[in-house]
Amino acid sequence: MRSYKKLWPYAKPYSSSVALHIFFNLLAIVFALVSIGLVVPVLQIIFENTPKELAEPTWFVDRVKVWFYAQIQERVSETSQGGALFLVVVFVIVAFVFKNFFRYLAMYVIAPLRNGITRDLRNDLHKKVLALPLGYFSDRKKGDIISRLTSDLKEIEWAAMMTIELLFREPIMILASLGVLLYMNAKLTLFVLVMLPVASFIITRVGRSLKKSSKSAQEFMGELIARIDETVGGLRILKAFNAEDHKQKTFSQANNRYYQMMNRVLRRSDMASPLSEALGASIMAVVIWFGGQIVMSTPSFGAEQFIAYILFFYQIIPPAKSLSRASFHLQRADAASRRILEVLEAKNDIVDPETPVSPVAFERDIRFSKVVFGYGDGAVLHGIDLQIPAGKTVALVGLSGSGKTSIANLIPRFYDVDRGEITIDGVDIRQMKLKELRGLMGIVGQEAILFNDTVHANIALGKPNASRGEVEEAARVAHAYDFIAELPEGFDANIGDLGMKLSGGQRQRLSIARAILKNPPLLILDEATSALDTESERLVQDALNALMKDRTALVIAHRLSTVRFADLIVVLDQGRILEQGTHESLISAGGQYSKLWSLQGG
Ligand SMILES: Nc1ncnc2c1ncn2[C@@H]1O[C@H](COP(=O)(O)OP(=O)(O)OP(=O)(O)O)[C@@H](O)[C@H]1O
Ligand SMILES: [Mg+2]
Repeated sequence: MRSYKKLWPYAKPYSSSVALHIFFNLLAIVFALVSIGLVVPVLQIIFENTPKELAEPTWFVDRVKVWFYAQIQERVSETSQGGALFLVVVFVIVAFVFKNFFRYLAMYVIAPLRNGITRDLRNDLHKKVLALPLGYFSDRKKGDIISRLTSDLKEIEWAAMMTIELLFREPIMILASLGVLLYMNAKLTLFVLVMLPVASFIITRVGRSLKKSSKSAQEFMGELIARIDETVGGLRILKAFNAEDHKQKTFSQANNRYYQMMNRVLRRSDMASPLSEALGASIMAVVIWFGGQIVMSTPSFGAEQFIAYILFFYQIIPPAKSLSRASFHLQRADAASRRILEVLEAKNDIVDPETPVSPVAFERDIRFSKVVFGYGDGAVLHGIDLQIPAGKTVALVGLSGSGKTSIANLIPRFYDVDRGEITIDGVDIRQMKLKELRGLMGIVGQEAILFNDTVHANIALGKPNASRGEVEEAARVAHAYDFIAELPEGFDANIGDLGMKLSGGQRQRLSIARAILKNPPLLILDEATSALDTESERLVQDALNALMKDRTALVIAHRLSTVRFADLIVVLDQGRILEQGTHESLISAGGQYSKLWSLQGG
């Protein structure tokens, strides 16, 4: 229960709903007991066994009882038994209506807690997902995170309800019923009290054995979601390679494992209810046997009282059963909490420093000094020394996998260097505020990432309050204006999930427009024009060249012609800088660059 308890503070803002919930539940319990208590006069009237005289009333409940019996008495003598019965039945109905009314009110006031806890947790999880460094997600599956945000949260919602019932409703119900039982017949009740602990011990033992398999089932659900996500995302490729059957096969295998696992989980959890019922019935039988003997030997404890006693006793069984179910849910909730806490408590190394250097002007340069970096096991960059002077364009070229994107990833601190340092105007970027550091740069990545929002909002991502005029201007510069204008709703058109409705080149131009609108001092362009045809590439390149002219730019390109006019070209090879210089100097040096250049028909 340790993990689950850690989430309890989430219930705190809703303590007033809990108070109301308890209050209404108490009322519901009172009416439930009253409605059962009314069985006694009903039976007495039917059996024509109405007591003529009652003992002097001593306390409140007795007074009510005496008054009530006087009413019945009056009717029995005045009219007929039927009239008296009618009166009692009306009371029974009224009591039941009130009981259910208050039960509903209790549920009504607790809804904000149920949904509020999950809302707050979901918000915090989403916030945490946004805050965590990219490195956190590279060794985790998307589906796993999604399942933590959905089914694990559902589990917590259940548990929250269970906890409240476990702490307040069921014990009160049990105690109140026991109180009535004691009042009715102390001897019989003491006997029952000896039996109950035995039953509850067995029930909790059942619950405990359910813990393990439910945890792995949750984890497995995450894997399934990941697979479905992969299928939907990779549909085009799966179809093109006729790989549907293979994909279906691996999916159904995983699905089948989940099926078997869930069968085990359900069979175990379903055992709790029949087991406790059978147990309850056995206890009941013993009570009837023992109670029957008391009835036969005690004149004041008649058949009506005994029947009512049994009915009251039966009130204990549902809450006891739900206590046993609650323990099962709580154990599942603990597993779910652990998975949620794993995300919430994940350590985030990439955070603002305690005493940030601010502001950093960025007038001189960005400098890599002896930078060593890897994503996990081995290093990907081995001792990079690189200077990007302010106002200049530096190009990174090299074979696929040589580490170009990795270098670009380090500047906005998507990842931190393992050794060495990156400085802006001599200030280590780890000494800067993240927002300030990232505010310096506009990034157009290898993949154009668009969000399910309007075209306008997608372009204005880095400048949310930009006017329509500014957004249109940025789109024009990125050569995106024309195709946007042709969309049915223009800039207000909604880009479908992941921009599937747009071509690769169109998406790329939108993300270029996004960087242009932000107008940052530093542009990072990672293959920004790779998805464009030659014609639009030239146009967009022209626009980018104009944009880069009076600002700093780090440009990554495979097509060397797009970077030939860069102030500095850096050739990377397997995480090391092979050579650097201007286009002319590298050509005349006759190294790797000149080889690549002639290969590309330069
Ligand atoms: N998220 C990641 N996790 C682990 N390894 C990674 C990750 N991203 C890249 N790598 C590895 O780092 C190395 C350099 O990758 P990088 O993406 O920097 O290459 P690149 O020069 O940009 O290549 P390309 O031209 O294909 O984009 C590669 O060997 C790659 O396998
Ligand atoms: Mg790359």
